[in-house]
Amino acid sequence: MQKTISNLQSSVSQTNRAPEELQQDYLQQFITDYNEHTKTSKKFTQNYRFTLADSRVPTGFNLALKEICYPIVAKKSFGSKIWDVDGNEYVDVTMGFGINLFGHNPSFVKIALLEQLEQGIHLGPQTELAGEVAELIAEMTGMERVAFSNTGTEAVMAAIRIARAATKRNKIAIFSGSYHGHSDNTLVDAKEINGSLQILPTASGVPPSIAEDVLVLDYGSPQSLELIEAYKHELAAVLVEPVQTSRLDLQPKEFLHKLRQLTTELDIALIFDEMVTGFRIHPGGAQAWFGVAADIATYGKIVGGGLPIGVIAGKAAYMDKIDGGMWNYGDDSFPQVETTLFAGTHCKHPLSLAAAKAVLKYLKNQGATLQSNLNQRTAEFVNTLNAYLEAENIPVKMINFGSIFGPNSGNSTTNSEKSLPLGFSLLTYHLINRGFLSRGGSGFLSTAHTDEDITYIIQAVKDSINDLRSGYFL
Ligand SMILES: Cc1ncc(COP(=O)(O)O)c(C=O)c1O
Repeated sequence: MQKTISNLQSSVSQTNRAPEELQQDYLQQFITDYNEHTKTSKKFTQNYRFTLADSRVPTGFNLALKEICYPIVAKKSFGSKIWDVDGNEYVDVTMGFGINLFGHNPSFVKIALLEQLEQGIHLGPQTELAGEVAELIAEMTGMERVAFSNTGTEAVMAAIRIARAATKRNKIAIFSGSYHGHSDNTLVDAKEINGSLQILPTASGVPPSIAEDVLVLDYGSPQSLELIEAYKHELAAVLVEPVQTSRLDLQPKEFLHKLRQLTTELDIALIFDEMVTGFRIHPGGAQAWFGVAADIATYGKIVGGGLPIGVIAGKAAYMDKIDGGMWNYGDDSFPQVETTLFAGTHCKHPLSLAAAKAVLKYLKNQGATLQSNLNQRTAEFVNTLNAYLEAENIPVKMINFGSIFGPNSGNSTTNSEKSLPLGFSLLTYHLINRGFLSRGGSGFLSTAHTDEDITYIIQAVKDSINDLRSGYFL
């Protein structure tokens, strides 16, 4: 299926040499081999490095691995596979950061897109599909009203603004370790400095003043509920990533129920950020899974079928802030609710809505067994991997929440970007070299992944670990 490292074991001289030297020899050979397989990706990256400002390129930069620090440039994708510009084939679990629940380029989405292209891409007048897609989302998520943005980040921004407008309060509470996109609003975290906990921006360029309006709490901790109570007069919303991609093991159902009860009592908006969990864990997302109805939920990824989309769905009491609420023709009703600003040139893009309609209809027809089967298959896959890792004394445990899986990162705050021992960073590159594309060992199983793909991934993991051990890593 793909090229492998050529005789690395045999060519590393093992006699009378320090382990560090043997590691260096191995590393050098691996880098040469990797560069040879993926030379066009490397060339592309260097050619455009200056003109193309791309934050993903230096992610996890490690001086020792500088020569292999470049993204694989994809040429083609279908089902569970990606082919790169050098013709290598990969079983992919990055799946568009969680977009591709049905694998790459599913035919029913492609057909819907081609049909829409024939009609045109008319923005400005109302998009014909907007009402139908909103109804499908409302039906599946149990939400009353639905609005469309272009990305998840925008959806979260809008949800926060709506909650602030509706409650006339400014503060929001988020939970440490969560990710809610890249707007200033949520780019803060709690850090201990000289013994005291401070809320600070997590990226330069985010004004420290943002932190004045954000409480960063511990997810799942009873103390967080006490803090919400303490700040009840200032809090507009509690924003939750129901299961954080950085902490898949933390699935605090009871806490979520208590949070729901408390926020209802205090009239604080409970916002579920369902960007990853939405339509994946269950047709009704994490809300249905945990049995908790949020006031507002944000979606994206899967529902756009590969096209950019963000969805804000919620109770009319909040969503009416977008358009003034319900009114009818032929009587004296009018939009009575004071609105806030919600806008975007590309919102309700005909192509995104055509893809969303195809995805939602497909999901509706398949019913909840689509998700339950996929969740079950992912759990079995993770169990098999864990049995192997344990037997081999590899200190990594894989965990899954439905069809998303990754190494259990304990209580760390970020998953893929934290600094790892060289051997573990190298593992990702070995997996790529063995034809398996993941995000630091994390990924998503799709309905397009076959049993053969899963066997292939497990073998790639085993072979990569053996390779690394032969090079005195791990
Ligand atoms: C939970 C969560 N919220 C929000 C976002 C932001 O979505 P987007 O990247 O579409 O802006 C992401 C993206 O990964 C996410 O995982």
